[in-house]
Amino acid sequence: MRPMPEPFRIKMVEPLYPSTREQRKRWLEAAGYNLFNLHATQVYIDLLTDSGTGAMSDRQWSMLLRGDESYAGAESFYRLAKTVDDVFGFTQFVPTHQGRASEALLFGVMVKPAQIVPNNTHFDTTRANLEMAGACAVDLPIPEARDTASEHPFKGNIDIERLEKLLEDTTPGRVPLGMLTLTNNSVGGQPVSLENIEQTKLLLAKYDVPLFLDACRFAENAWFIHRREPDWKDKPLEEIVRTAFSFADGFTFSAKKDGLANIGGLLGVRDKSVFEQIKQRMVVTEGFPTYGGLAGRDLEAIAQGLTEVLDPAHLAHRVGQAVSMVEQLDGAGVPVLKPAGGHGVFLDARRFLPRIPLEEFPGQALAAALYLETGVRSCEIGSVMFAKRDKDTGEMRFPDLDLVRLAIPRRVYTNAQLAWVAEGIADLYAQRDHITGMRMVEEPPVLRHFSARFAPIFRAVIQ
Ligand code: F0G
Repeated sequence: MRPMPEPFRIKMVEPLYPSTREQRKRWLEAAGYNLFNLHATQVYIDLLTDSGTGAMSDRQWSMLLRGDESYAGAESFYRLAKTVDDVFGFTQFVPTHQGRASEALLFGVMVKPAQIVPNNTHFDTTRANLEMAGACAVDLPIPEARDTASEHPFKGNIDIERLEKLLEDTTPGRVPLGMLTLTNNSVGGQPVSLENIEQTKLLLAKYDVPLFLDACRFAENAWFIHRREPDWKDKPLEEIVRTAFSFADGFTFSAKKDGLANIGGLLGVRDKSVFEQIKQRMVVTEGFPTYGGLAGRDLEAIAQGLTEVLDPAHLAHRVGQAVSMVEQLDGAGVPVLKPAGGHGVFLDARRFLPRIPLEEFPGQALAAALYLETGVRSCEIGSVMFAKRDKDTGEMRFPDLDLVRLAIPRRVYTNAQLAWVAEGIADLYAQRDHITGMRMVEEPPVLRHFSARFAPIFRAVIQ
Protein backbone atom coordinates (compact mmCIF):
# COMPACT_ATOMS: atom_id res chain seq x y z
CA MET A 1 0.00 0.00 0.00
CA ARG A 2 1.35 3.45 -0.91
CA PRO A 3 1.74 5.37 2.35
CA MET A 4 -0.60 8.30 2.86
CA PRO A 5 1.32 11.59 2.89
CA GLU A 6 1.67 13.46 6.17
CA PRO A 7 -1.67 15.17 6.96
CA PHE A 8 0.13 18.25 8.31
CA ARG A 9 2.84 20.64 7.26
CA ILE A 10 5.82 21.35 9.46
CA LYS A 11 6.19 24.74 11.15
CA MET A 12 9.09 24.05 13.49
CA VAL A 13 11.95 21.56 13.25
CA GLU A 14 14.51 20.13 15.65
CA PRO A 15 17.86 18.59 14.77
CA LEU A 16 18.58 14.87 14.49
CA TYR A 17 21.85 13.52 15.83
CA PRO A 18 23.70 11.32 13.34
CA SER A 19 26.64 9.31 14.72
CA THR A 20 29.19 6.74 13.62
CA ARG A 21 29.13 3.03 14.43
CA GLU A 22 32.33 3.51 16.42
CA GLN A 23 30.71 6.16 18.60
CA ARG A 24 27.61 4.06 19.11
CA LYS A 25 29.72 1.06 20.10
CA ARG A 26 31.27 3.09 22.93
CA TRP A 27 27.96 4.60 24.02
CA LEU A 28 26.29 1.21 24.03
CA GLU A 29 28.97 -0.28 26.26
CA ALA A 30 28.78 2.70 28.64
CA ALA A 31 24.98 2.24 28.77
CA GLY A 32 25.32 -1.40 29.84
CA TYR A 33 23.58 -2.39 26.58
CA ASN A 34 20.37 -0.92 27.96
CA LEU A 35 18.96 1.64 25.55
CA PHE A 36 17.13 3.43 28.38
CA ASN A 37 20.58 4.50 29.63
CA LEU A 38 21.56 6.34 26.42
CA HIS A 39 21.52 10.11 26.16
CA ALA A 40 18.84 11.11 23.67
CA THR A 41 21.50 12.94 21.65
CA GLN A 42 23.23 9.58 21.09
CA VAL A 43 20.13 8.37 19.22
CA TYR A 44 19.43 9.09 15.57
CA ILE A 45 15.78 8.03 15.24
CA ASP A 46 14.10 7.48 18.56
CA LEU A 47 11.40 4.81 18.51
CA LEU A 48 11.80 3.89 22.18
CA THR A 49 8.25 4.93 22.96
CA ASP A 50 5.23 6.78 21.62
CA SER A 51 4.58 8.08 25.13
CA GLY A 52 4.96 11.82 25.66
CA THR A 53 7.16 12.01 22.56
CA GLY A 54 4.58 13.39 20.10
CA ALA A 55 4.57 16.80 18.46
CA MET A 56 1.89 19.18 19.69
CA SER A 57 -0.15 21.10 17.14
CA ASP A 58 -0.09 24.88 16.73
CA ARG A 59 -3.50 24.90 18.43
CA GLN A 60 -2.16 23.03 21.44
CA TRP A 61 0.79 25.41 21.74
CA SER A 62 -1.55 28.38 21.53
CA MET A 63 -3.77 26.93 24.28
CA LEU A 64 -0.75 26.72 26.59
CA LEU A 65 -0.89 30.50 26.91
CA ARG A 66 -4.43 30.20 28.23
CA GLY A 67 -3.36 27.91 31.07
CA ASP A 68 -4.95 29.05 34.31
CA GLU A 69 -2.41 28.31 37.03
CA SER A 70 -4.80 28.80 39.97
CA TYR A 71 -4.28 26.20 42.67
CA ALA A 72 -7.97 25.31 42.92
CA GLY A 73 -10.83 25.54 40.44
CA ALA A 74 -8.71 26.69 37.48
CA GLU A 75 -10.60 27.56 34.31
CA SER A 76 -8.33 25.09 32.49
CA PHE A 77 -9.73 22.25 34.60
CA TYR A 78 -13.27 23.10 33.60
CA ARG A 79 -12.33 23.24 29.93
CA LEU A 80 -10.74 19.81 30.30
CA ALA A 81 -13.82 18.53 32.18
CA LYS A 82 -16.09 19.56 29.32
CA THR A 83 -13.87 17.71 26.81
CA VAL A 84 -13.65 14.58 28.98
CA ASP A 85 -17.43 14.54 29.21
CA ASP A 86 -17.82 15.14 25.44
CA VAL A 87 -15.29 12.49 24.38
CA PHE A 88 -15.67 9.79 27.04
CA GLY A 89 -19.05 10.54 28.64
CA PHE A 90 -17.50 10.74 32.11
CA THR A 91 -18.35 13.57 34.51
CA GLN A 92 -16.33 12.25 37.47
CA PHE A 93 -12.59 12.30 36.81
CA VAL A 94 -9.34 13.74 38.07
CA PRO A 95 -6.22 14.76 36.16
CA THR A 96 -2.99 13.04 37.19
CA HIS A 97 0.62 13.54 36.19
CA GLN A 98 0.60 10.39 34.03
CA GLY A 99 -1.04 7.01 33.52
CA ARG A 100 0.79 5.11 36.25
CA ALA A 101 -0.26 7.74 38.80
CA SER A 102 -3.88 7.01 37.86
CA GLU A 103 -3.17 3.30 38.34
CA ALA A 104 -1.54 3.83 41.75
CA LEU A 105 -4.45 5.98 42.94
CA LEU A 106 -7.11 3.61 41.66
CA PHE A 107 -5.51 0.46 43.05
CA GLY A 108 -4.69 2.24 46.31
CA VAL A 109 -8.42 2.74 46.83
CA MET A 110 -9.92 -0.38 45.22
CA VAL A 111 -7.40 -3.21 45.51
CA LYS A 112 -6.43 -5.18 48.64
CA PRO A 113 -3.58 -7.65 49.12
CA ALA A 114 -4.18 -11.15 47.73
CA GLN A 115 -6.88 -9.97 45.34
CA ILE A 116 -6.80 -10.81 41.63
CA VAL A 117 -7.14 -8.39 38.71
CA PRO A 118 -7.68 -9.86 35.22
CA ASN A 119 -6.84 -7.91 32.05
CA ASN A 120 -6.38 -8.75 28.37
CA THR A 121 -2.70 -8.01 29.13
CA HIS A 122 -1.43 -5.73 31.86
CA PHE A 123 1.10 -3.15 30.79
CA ASP A 124 4.27 -3.30 32.90
CA THR A 125 3.40 -0.31 35.11
CA THR A 126 -0.14 -1.63 35.66
CA ARG A 127 1.24 -4.98 36.71
CA ALA A 128 3.86 -3.35 38.95
CA ASN A 129 1.27 -1.13 40.63
CA LEU A 130 -0.96 -4.12 41.30
CA GLU A 131 1.92 -6.18 42.64
CA MET A 132 2.97 -3.30 44.87
CA ALA A 133 -0.59 -3.30 46.25
CA GLY A 134 -0.05 -7.02 47.04
CA ALA A 135 -2.46 -8.20 44.35
CA CYS A 136 -2.04 -10.67 41.53
CA ALA A 137 -2.22 -9.39 37.92
CA VAL A 138 -3.59 -12.05 35.57
CA ASP A 139 -3.23 -11.77 31.78
CA LEU A 140 -5.90 -13.41 29.66
CA PRO A 141 -5.10 -12.68 26.00
CA ILE A 142 -6.78 -14.78 23.31
CA PRO A 143 -4.59 -17.65 21.99
CA GLU A 144 -4.06 -15.88 18.62
CA ALA A 145 -2.12 -13.15 20.45
CA ARG A 146 0.69 -15.62 20.99
CA ASP A 147 1.06 -16.27 17.26
CA THR A 148 2.87 -13.33 15.64
CA ALA A 149 1.79 -14.54 12.20
CA SER A 150 -1.95 -14.75 12.96
CA GLU A 151 -3.90 -12.06 11.11
CA HIS A 152 -6.78 -12.05 13.64
CA PRO A 153 -8.35 -8.57 13.35
CA PHE A 154 -8.79 -8.13 17.12
CA LYS A 155 -5.78 -9.86 18.57
CA GLY A 156 -5.95 -7.57 21.60
CA ASN A 157 -9.20 -9.18 22.85
CA ILE A 158 -9.50 -10.77 26.27
CA ASP A 159 -10.23 -14.51 26.32
CA ILE A 160 -13.84 -14.50 27.52
CA GLU A 161 -13.87 -18.22 28.34
CA ARG A 162 -10.79 -17.98 30.52
CA LEU A 163 -12.18 -14.88 32.19
CA GLU A 164 -15.40 -16.74 32.98
CA LYS A 165 -13.46 -19.65 34.42
CA LEU A 166 -11.38 -17.32 36.57
CA LEU A 167 -14.52 -15.63 37.91
CA GLU A 168 -16.25 -18.96 38.54
CA ASP A 169 -13.26 -20.43 40.36
CA THR A 170 -12.59 -17.42 42.55
CA THR A 171 -14.27 -16.75 45.85
CA PRO A 172 -16.65 -13.77 45.73
CA GLY A 173 -14.95 -10.47 46.56
CA ARG A 174 -11.52 -11.66 45.48
CA VAL A 175 -11.70 -9.81 42.12
CA PRO A 176 -12.10 -6.09 42.90
CA LEU A 177 -12.13 -5.02 39.25
CA GLY A 178 -11.44 -6.27 35.74
CA MET A 179 -9.50 -4.35 33.12
CA LEU A 180 -9.15 -4.10 29.35
CA THR A 181 -6.14 -2.40 27.82
CA LEU A 182 -6.98 -0.50 24.60
CA THR A 183 -5.00 -1.14 22.49
CA ASN A 184 -3.23 -4.15 23.94
CA ASN A 185 0.30 -2.76 24.02
CA SER A 186 2.17 -5.82 25.27
CA VAL A 187 0.88 -8.11 22.51
CA GLY A 188 1.76 -5.63 19.77
CA GLY A 189 -0.59 -2.65 19.98
CA GLN A 190 -3.44 -4.91 18.90
CA PRO A 191 -7.06 -3.72 19.15
CA VAL A 192 -9.96 -4.93 21.25
CA SER A 193 -13.33 -5.17 19.49
CA LEU A 194 -16.44 -3.42 20.77
CA GLU A 195 -18.08 -6.82 20.93
CA ASN A 196 -15.32 -8.04 23.26
CA ILE A 197 -15.63 -4.92 25.44
CA GLU A 198 -19.38 -5.45 25.74
CA GLN A 199 -19.02 -9.19 26.47
CA THR A 200 -16.43 -8.44 29.14
CA LYS A 201 -18.72 -5.88 30.75
CA LEU A 202 -21.68 -8.28 30.76
CA LEU A 203 -19.63 -11.10 32.21
CA LEU A 204 -18.02 -9.00 34.92
CA ALA A 205 -21.40 -7.48 35.80
CA LYS A 206 -22.77 -11.00 36.39
CA TYR A 207 -20.18 -11.32 39.16
CA ASP A 208 -20.65 -7.75 40.37
CA VAL A 209 -17.14 -6.78 39.26
CA PRO A 210 -16.62 -3.31 37.74
CA LEU A 211 -14.84 -2.89 34.39
CA PHE A 212 -12.01 -0.38 34.03
CA LEU A 213 -10.47 0.54 30.70
CA ASP A 214 -6.76 1.27 30.42
CA ALA A 215 -7.55 3.73 27.66
CA CYS A 216 -4.07 5.01 26.72
CA ARG A 217 -4.65 4.38 23.00
CA PHE A 218 -8.43 4.61 22.85
CA ALA A 219 -8.41 6.56 19.56
CA GLU A 220 -6.21 4.03 17.74
CA ASN A 221 -8.42 1.27 19.11
CA ALA A 222 -11.51 3.09 17.80
CA TRP A 223 -9.83 3.43 14.39
CA PHE A 224 -9.40 -0.33 14.11
CA ILE A 225 -13.03 -0.88 15.13
CA HIS A 226 -14.10 1.69 12.51
CA ARG A 227 -12.10 -0.17 9.86
CA ARG A 228 -12.57 -3.81 10.87
CA GLU A 229 -15.59 -4.57 13.04
CA PRO A 230 -18.56 -5.49 10.84
CA ASP A 231 -21.25 -3.85 13.02
CA TRP A 232 -19.22 -0.68 13.42
CA LYS A 233 -17.54 -0.35 10.06
CA ASP A 234 -17.29 3.30 8.98
CA LYS A 235 -19.34 4.50 11.97
CA PRO A 236 -18.15 7.85 13.39
CA LEU A 237 -15.13 7.48 15.68
CA GLU A 238 -16.78 9.66 18.32
CA GLU A 239 -19.72 7.26 18.51
CA ILE A 240 -17.42 4.24 18.77
CA VAL A 241 -15.50 5.84 21.66
CA ARG A 242 -18.66 6.86 23.51
CA THR A 243 -20.06 3.34 23.12
CA ALA A 244 -16.84 1.69 24.34
CA PHE A 245 -16.76 3.94 27.40
CA SER A 246 -20.47 3.40 28.08
CA PHE A 247 -19.51 -0.15 29.13
CA ALA A 248 -16.85 1.13 31.55
CA ASP A 249 -17.23 1.79 35.24
CA GLY A 250 -14.02 3.74 35.11
CA PHE A 251 -10.82 4.30 33.18
CA THR A 252 -7.16 5.09 33.57
CA PHE A 253 -5.53 7.13 30.84
CA SER A 254 -2.08 8.35 29.95
CA ALA A 255 -2.49 11.63 28.06
CA LYS A 256 1.07 11.07 26.79
CA LYS A 257 -0.37 8.76 24.15
CA ASP A 258 -3.77 9.55 22.64
CA GLY A 259 -4.02 12.79 24.63
CA LEU A 260 -1.40 14.09 22.17
CA ALA A 261 0.32 15.77 25.12
CA ASN A 262 3.85 15.46 26.48
CA ILE A 263 2.71 14.80 30.03
CA GLY A 264 -0.49 14.04 31.95
CA GLY A 265 -3.10 11.45 32.73
CA LEU A 266 -6.73 11.01 33.73
CA LEU A 267 -8.61 8.77 36.11
CA GLY A 268 -12.37 8.48 35.71
CA VAL A 269 -14.81 6.57 37.91
CA ARG A 270 -18.58 6.37 38.06
CA ASP A 271 -18.85 5.21 41.68
CA LYS A 272 -19.29 8.24 43.97
CA SER A 273 -17.68 6.76 47.06
CA VAL A 274 -14.60 5.51 45.16
CA PHE A 275 -14.31 8.92 43.53
CA GLU A 276 -14.38 10.71 46.90
CA GLN A 277 -11.66 8.40 48.26
CA ILE A 278 -9.50 9.01 45.20
CA LYS A 279 -9.85 12.75 45.58
CA GLN A 280 -8.83 12.58 49.24
CA ARG A 281 -5.90 10.32 48.56
CA MET A 282 -4.54 12.29 45.63
CA VAL A 283 -4.09 15.51 47.62
CA VAL A 284 -1.31 13.72 49.50
CA THR A 285 0.59 12.46 46.45
CA GLU A 286 -0.56 14.14 43.22
CA GLY A 287 -2.10 17.47 44.11
CA PHE A 288 -5.49 19.11 44.42
CA PRO A 289 -8.15 17.31 42.34
CA THR A 290 -8.52 20.15 39.83
CA TYR A 291 -4.87 20.06 38.76
CA GLY A 292 -3.59 16.61 39.76
CA GLY A 293 0.16 17.14 39.54
CA LEU A 294 -0.02 19.15 36.32
CA ALA A 295 0.29 22.80 35.39
CA GLY A 296 -2.86 24.52 34.13
CA ARG A 297 -1.24 24.75 30.70
CA ASP A 298 -0.82 20.97 30.62
CA LEU A 299 -4.56 20.57 31.18
CA GLU A 300 -5.14 22.85 28.18
CA ALA A 301 -2.78 20.80 26.00
CA ILE A 302 -4.64 17.61 26.91
CA ALA A 303 -8.09 19.14 26.36
CA GLN A 304 -7.05 20.38 22.91
CA GLY A 305 -5.26 17.10 22.11
CA LEU A 306 -8.40 15.12 22.88
CA THR A 307 -10.31 17.20 20.34
CA GLU A 308 -7.69 16.45 17.64
CA VAL A 309 -6.92 12.79 18.14
CA LEU A 310 -10.12 11.42 16.59
CA ASP A 311 -9.47 13.20 13.30
CA PRO A 312 -9.66 10.38 10.72
CA ALA A 313 -6.80 11.94 8.72
CA HIS A 314 -4.53 11.76 11.76
CA LEU A 315 -5.44 8.15 12.55
CA ALA A 316 -5.29 6.96 8.94
CA HIS A 317 -1.80 8.41 8.56
CA ARG A 318 -0.61 7.21 11.96
CA VAL A 319 -1.77 3.62 11.61
CA GLY A 320 -0.73 3.78 7.93
CA GLN A 321 2.87 4.44 8.98
CA ALA A 322 2.95 1.19 10.96
CA VAL A 323 1.23 -0.70 8.12
CA SER A 324 3.77 0.54 5.54
CA MET A 325 6.70 -0.46 7.73
CA VAL A 326 5.24 -3.93 8.33
CA GLU A 327 4.69 -4.40 4.59
CA GLN A 328 8.25 -3.32 3.81
CA LEU A 329 9.71 -5.63 6.48
CA ASP A 330 7.49 -8.54 5.58
CA GLY A 331 8.51 -8.12 1.94
CA ALA A 332 12.15 -8.45 3.02
CA GLY A 333 11.35 -11.65 4.94
CA VAL A 334 11.85 -10.05 8.38
CA PRO A 335 9.75 -11.78 11.08
CA VAL A 336 7.41 -9.02 12.15
CA LEU A 337 4.22 -9.15 14.15
CA LYS A 338 1.09 -9.09 11.99
CA PRO A 339 -1.22 -7.39 11.50
CA ALA A 340 0.44 -4.01 12.16
CA GLY A 341 -0.35 -2.54 15.57
CA GLY A 342 -1.66 0.94 16.22
CA HIS A 343 1.38 2.58 17.71
CA GLY A 344 4.30 0.79 16.21
CA VAL A 345 5.98 -2.15 14.63
CA PHE A 346 6.97 -5.20 16.63
CA LEU A 347 9.79 -7.50 15.54
CA ASP A 348 9.57 -11.13 16.59
CA ALA A 349 13.00 -11.53 18.19
CA ARG A 350 12.71 -15.29 18.68
CA ARG A 351 12.16 -15.81 14.96
CA PHE A 352 14.68 -13.09 14.04
CA LEU A 353 17.39 -14.69 16.19
CA PRO A 354 16.48 -18.39 16.51
CA ARG A 355 20.01 -19.30 17.62
CA ILE A 356 19.88 -17.14 20.73
CA PRO A 357 18.30 -19.04 23.64
CA LEU A 358 15.64 -17.31 25.74
CA GLU A 359 18.04 -17.08 28.71
CA GLU A 360 20.22 -14.83 26.56
CA PHE A 361 17.46 -12.30 25.88
CA PRO A 362 17.01 -12.32 22.07
CA GLY A 363 14.90 -9.14 22.26
CA GLN A 364 17.56 -7.21 24.13
CA ALA A 365 20.25 -8.54 21.78
CA LEU A 366 18.23 -7.43 18.75
CA ALA A 367 17.46 -3.96 20.14
CA ALA A 368 21.16 -3.42 20.98
CA ALA A 369 22.29 -4.62 17.53
CA LEU A 370 19.77 -2.39 15.75
CA TYR A 371 21.04 0.62 17.68
CA LEU A 372 24.66 -0.28 16.97
CA GLU A 373 24.12 -0.64 13.24
CA THR A 374 21.65 2.19 12.59
CA GLY A 375 21.36 4.55 15.58
CA VAL A 376 17.65 3.64 15.89
CA ARG A 377 16.43 3.19 19.46
CA SER A 378 13.74 0.58 20.04
CA CYS A 379 12.44 -1.17 23.14
CA GLU A 380 12.49 -4.79 24.23
CA ILE A 381 9.05 -6.07 25.24
CA GLY A 382 9.83 -9.62 26.26
CA SER A 383 11.87 -11.58 28.74
CA VAL A 384 13.77 -8.63 30.17
CA MET A 385 10.47 -6.96 30.95
CA PHE A 386 8.40 -9.97 31.96
CA ALA A 387 10.39 -13.16 32.68
CA LYS A 388 10.18 -14.16 36.35
CA ARG A 389 11.79 -16.78 38.50
CA ASP A 390 9.23 -19.15 40.03
CA LYS A 391 9.25 -18.56 43.80
CA ASP A 392 8.91 -22.27 44.60
CA THR A 393 10.88 -24.10 41.92
CA GLY A 394 13.45 -21.37 41.11
CA GLU A 395 12.78 -22.07 37.45
CA MET A 396 12.67 -19.18 34.96
CA ARG A 397 9.22 -18.50 33.49
CA PHE A 398 9.43 -16.78 30.13
CA PRO A 399 6.64 -14.74 28.53
CA ASP A 400 4.93 -15.98 25.36
CA LEU A 401 6.78 -13.55 23.14
CA ASP A 402 10.07 -11.72 22.85
CA LEU A 403 9.30 -8.61 20.88
CA VAL A 404 11.28 -5.56 19.92
CA ARG A 405 8.98 -2.60 19.62
CA LEU A 406 9.58 0.30 17.28
CA ALA A 407 7.06 2.74 18.72
CA ILE A 408 6.13 5.58 16.41
CA PRO A 409 5.84 8.97 18.11
CA ARG A 410 2.77 10.92 16.98
CA ARG A 411 3.32 13.50 14.21
CA VAL A 412 7.12 13.41 14.61
CA TYR A 413 8.80 11.27 11.95
CA THR A 414 7.99 11.35 8.26
CA ASN A 415 7.20 8.36 6.06
CA ALA A 416 10.64 8.73 4.46
CA GLN A 417 12.41 8.46 7.81
CA LEU A 418 10.43 5.37 8.76
CA ALA A 419 11.08 3.72 5.38
CA TRP A 420 14.80 4.28 6.06
CA VAL A 421 14.42 2.56 9.45
CA ALA A 422 12.71 -0.44 7.85
CA GLU A 423 15.52 -0.68 5.32
CA GLY A 424 18.08 -0.70 8.14
CA ILE A 425 16.22 -3.54 9.86
CA ALA A 426 16.14 -5.55 6.64
CA ASP A 427 19.93 -5.07 6.29
CA LEU A 428 20.41 -6.19 9.88
CA TYR A 429 18.28 -9.27 9.22
CA ALA A 430 20.63 -10.22 6.40
CA GLN A 431 23.53 -10.18 8.92
CA ARG A 432 21.61 -11.69 11.84
CA ASP A 433 24.06 -14.53 12.43
CA HIS A 434 26.60 -12.05 13.79
CA ILE A 435 24.31 -10.94 16.62
CA THR A 436 25.24 -12.29 20.05
CA GLY A 437 23.10 -13.01 23.13
CA MET A 438 23.12 -10.96 26.34
CA ARG A 439 23.81 -11.71 29.98
CA MET A 440 22.12 -9.56 32.64
CA VAL A 441 24.86 -8.32 34.95
CA GLU A 442 22.80 -5.96 37.13
CA GLU A 443 19.18 -6.65 37.98
CA PRO A 444 17.04 -4.15 39.93
CA PRO A 445 14.08 -5.71 41.80
CA VAL A 446 11.18 -3.70 40.29
CA LEU A 447 10.62 -2.80 36.60
CA ARG A 448 14.09 -4.09 35.88
CA HIS A 449 14.05 -3.29 32.17
CA PHE A 450 14.48 0.41 32.88
CA SER A 451 17.86 0.11 34.57
CA ALA A 452 19.24 -3.45 34.21
CA ARG A 453 22.73 -3.71 32.72
CA PHE A 454 23.89 -6.32 30.25
CA ALA A 455 27.05 -7.72 28.69
CA PRO A 456 27.21 -9.48 25.32
CA ILE A 457 28.01 -13.17 25.28
CA PHE A 458 30.75 -13.77 22.75
CA ARG A 459 31.06 -17.23 21.29
CA ALA A 460 32.26 -18.67 18.05
CA VAL A 461 29.56 -18.63 15.38
CA ILE A 462 28.72 -22.22 14.48
CA GLN A 463 28.01 -22.40 10.79
N1 F0G B 1 -0.94 1.51 30.21
C1 F0G B 1 -0.42 1.27 28.99
C2 F0G B 1 -1.12 0.33 28.07
C3 F0G B 1 0.76 1.90 28.61
O1 F0G B 1 1.24 1.67 27.39
C4 F0G B 1 1.39 2.80 29.52
C5 F0G B 1 2.64 3.44 29.17
C6 F0G B 1 0.81 3.03 30.76
C7 F0G B 1 -0.36 2.35 31.08
C8 F0G B 1 1.41 3.97 31.77
O2 F0G B 1 1.29 5.30 31.37
O3 F0G B 1 3.63 6.09 31.02
O4 F0G B 1 1.78 7.70 31.39
O5 F0G B 1 2.58 6.30 33.24
N2 F0G B 1 3.34 3.06 28.20
C9 F0G B 1 4.57 3.67 27.72
C10 F0G B 1 5.09 2.81 26.61
C11 F0G B 1 5.57 3.97 28.78
O6 F0G B 1 6.24 3.05 26.20
O7 F0G B 1 4.36 1.96 26.09
P1 F0G B 1 2.38 6.40 31.78
